[in-house]
Amino acid sequence: MRRVAVITGASSGIGAALCERLLHEDVGLHVCLACRNTEKANATRNRLLSIFPNADISIVQVDVGNLKSVLHAATEIKKRFNHLDYLFLNAGIMVNPRVSLGAFVRGLFSRRAIQMLTTADGLMTQGDRVTPDGLQEVFETNLFGHFILIRQLEPLLCSLEKPSQLIWTSSVNACKSNFSLDDYQHSQGQEAYSSSKYATDLASVALNNHFNKQGLYSSVVCPGVVMTNMTFEILPAFMWKLLLPIMLLLRIFTKTYTLTPYNGAEAQFWLFKQKPESLNPLVKFHSCTTFFGKNYTEMRKMDLNENLAEKFYQKLLELEKEVLMRIGEPQHKK
Ligand SMILES: NC(=O)c1ccc[n+]([C@@H]2O[C@H](COP(=O)([O-])OP(=O)(O)OC[C@H]3O[C@@H](n4cnc5c(N)ncnc54)[C@H](OP(=O)(O)O)[C@@H]3O)[C@@H](O)[C@H]2O)c1
Repeated sequence: MRRVAVITGASSGIGAALCERLLHEDVGLHVCLACRNTEKANATRNRLLSIFPNADISIVQVDVGNLKSVLHAATEIKKRFNHLDYLFLNAGIMVNPRVSLGAFVRGLFSRRAIQMLTTADGLMTQGDRVTPDGLQEVFETNLFGHFILIRQLEPLLCSLEKPSQLIWTSSVNACKSNFSLDDYQHSQGQEAYSSSKYATDLASVALNNHFNKQGLYSSVVCPGVVMTNMTFEILPAFMWKLLLPIMLLLRIFTKTYTLTPYNGAEAQFWLFKQKPESLNPLVKFHSCTTFFGKNYTEMRKMDLNENLAEKFYQKLLELEKEVLMRIGEPQHKK
């Protein structure tokens, strides 16, 4: 039977490159592009079909920053498929990111220089907004909308005969110090992106504890530093081009400058080929590229504890109950 992969945020960047790599590996795979913008999704589908004319590629419209849209997409996916083998939770945003020149110069002459250049921790200022669902936009888009999607798709994901994989696109920028259980949506802080990615790591660990027995496995990846629409919002494309020789040189010290979406999708692609039962749930899978341009996946233990992951998971369940009631939807459809 054909395997099915649903990929959120497949219309550009890492998500689009991943679709191409998946089809290259298994042209019989059904690839479902779960995108907010159907025009862009169609363009991606057409581009993929020009490379793989016999590929089976569908589109489902979903805005993961809008819960009604997530519920609608889940209903649509349940109509089309009986089982999902892979759900790539890849869509993500950073709101109005700006590099702080002062922090950059200070960081450059400090002991944290390499850490700053590889994680961007403390380097940027960002914004955030409240969505019509009454949630912080970065939290809802990067994590909570995806969490609701998983919960709604449980019947398609939980099967002991055929395990399923959740593969989240997290980040090396996910820092414990930017996350607080008391303000897990990060409405008070300045590091909404980092907080949402740390929250993603916690959610993945808790999902494993709750769902492994039902045949569902979750992993998180970091794609490295990749030139995509997201990074072009931080600095204009021409600035990245100017910085390119420096970044290529920095590959001597760090392997996180993956730079192209193809390289950035390395860890997601590697996970696609693994038996999920064999994966360590407490590590993050990093896409890496060597100075000579060789791609590989590196596992690094995450800085978190399972108690915190479980407490956060309970908060997500409470929030799920509250918002589904607020928008007038039945709580947890099976
Ligand atoms: N680029 C990097 O260096 C880097 C590093 C670490 C982690 N990441 C993560 O990698 C993932 C992919 O990002 P990217 O770098 O490939 O950037 P990108 O090209 O901007 O891709 C982001 C994707 O997410 C989609 N998206 C955004 N908001 C959405 C929403 N509300 N509903 C549905 N889809 C939505 C976008 O759709 P539209 O086309 O409609 O906007 C786009 O397809 C993100 O989770 C990001 O946080 C990237």
